[in-house]
Amino acid sequence: MKIKRILKWSAGAILLALVLCVFIGYWTSTNECDRKTAVTNPMKAIRYCEYGSPDVAKLDDVEKPVPTDNQVLIKVRAASLNALDAYMIRDAWLNRLIFGLRKPRDTRLGRDAAGVVEAVGKNVTQFKPADEVFGICRGSLAEYAVTPERALVIKAPNVSFEQAASVPLAGLTALQGLREGKIQPGQKVLINGATGGVGTFALQIAKSLGAEVTAVCSTRNVDLVRSIGADHVIDYTKEDFTKSDQRYDVIFDNVANHSFAERRRVLNSKGICVLAGMGGAGVKGSEAIPRIAGGFTARGLSSFTNQKFAMYVTTVNKQDLIMLGDLVRTGKLRPVIDRTYKLNDAPEALRHLDAGHARGKTVVTIE
Ligand SMILES: NC(=O)c1ccc[n+]([C@@H]2O[C@H](COP(=O)([O-])OP(=O)(O)OC[C@H]3O[C@@H](n4cnc5c(N)ncnc54)[C@H](OP(=O)(O)O)[C@@H]3O)[C@@H](O)[C@H]2O)c1
Repeated sequence: MKIKRILKWSAGAILLALVLCVFIGYWTSTNECDRKTAVTNPMKAIRYCEYGSPDVAKLDDVEKPVPTDNQVLIKVRAASLNALDAYMIRDAWLNRLIFGLRKPRDTRLGRDAAGVVEAVGKNVTQFKPADEVFGICRGSLAEYAVTPERALVIKAPNVSFEQAASVPLAGLTALQGLREGKIQPGQKVLINGATGGVGTFALQIAKSLGAEVTAVCSTRNVDLVRSIGADHVIDYTKEDFTKSDQRYDVIFDNVANHSFAERRRVLNSKGICVLAGMGGAGVKGSEAIPRIAGGFTARGLSSFTNQKFAMYVTTVNKQDLIMLGDLVRTGKLRPVIDRTYKLNDAPEALRHLDAGHARGKTVVTIE
């Protein structure tokens, strides 16, 4: 009897402590926007102090970053936007759990950058000031940004800063996803969502690897996908690819708007469906959750079949960045740049991406 009472009290105390922790965590989670100290070495940067729509992104004076021993400071010349930038701003419970309960802990925006090396940390061996580089760089929507040297590679002189900045995250996602699909020359590959940042790279990389590519896109983008090499085009506003008689060796799925059974129907008996994304920046919370859940379910169910559904998270890989840089340098990969904005118009660029119909990459230039 006594033990039962002690257990009951302990459970109650633990629950109360948990509620208190969440409450304290919520009210104490703050960010640099709340600090009133003067900026000593200012630079212009886009930051988001609150969650909300793209309107919360603002151009501000912030402290210019200083590289640590393993970091490179770059003067950013161009940055590109990814669906992730639009997702992170949204006021969603998952964002609050990951990025900060009350406010985003890290207010920087942007992941992709191309620019000129300004300074290097003492352990950096591969870069020196004045090198032209591109790569993954947190907070790239700014005049300057820092990143580890492993996330950067040299930019070829015949590639513009805008082109180079459009490559990193979308290019890596396309390349690593096609690898998950174990793509071979001559195979039939379908790309669902072929006209966004990832899709335009996936289409061209699949072609350069010798695949026969079918692109799924909306009517207005039919000419675009043909111009970057699609062998066949399916306009999703007129035709559902899962109802066709064609079979594919690899489905590279950027959209996840079909069920496990529907996609299996058009996969060859040993085909692979690569679950790359869930529809890009236009997909909002209520649509996103079932697509994410559907991805995990499909992956689980496929372990009982010969057809595989592969999920992956893009990783920063220097060799892959070098390979993508070479493909662009030699003209085998042509970044599709939808629109270019100035840094002070970056909130407008985010609104454009968030509307969900950007073609290829949205780029921001910094003068
Ligand atoms: N696995 C990873 O680690 C990883 C890393 C980076 C990105 N991603 C994911 O990859 C996905 C694609 O990213 P992104 O940067 O390419 O996004 P994006 O630039 O916003 O492009 C999304 C594309 O989806 C197309 N689309 C929308 N509805 C469609 C439908 N019903 N059928 C076919 N296409 C449709 C749009 O074309 P229309 O305008 O013609 O509709 C647009 O071209 C995102 O979900 C992102 O989160 C995953």
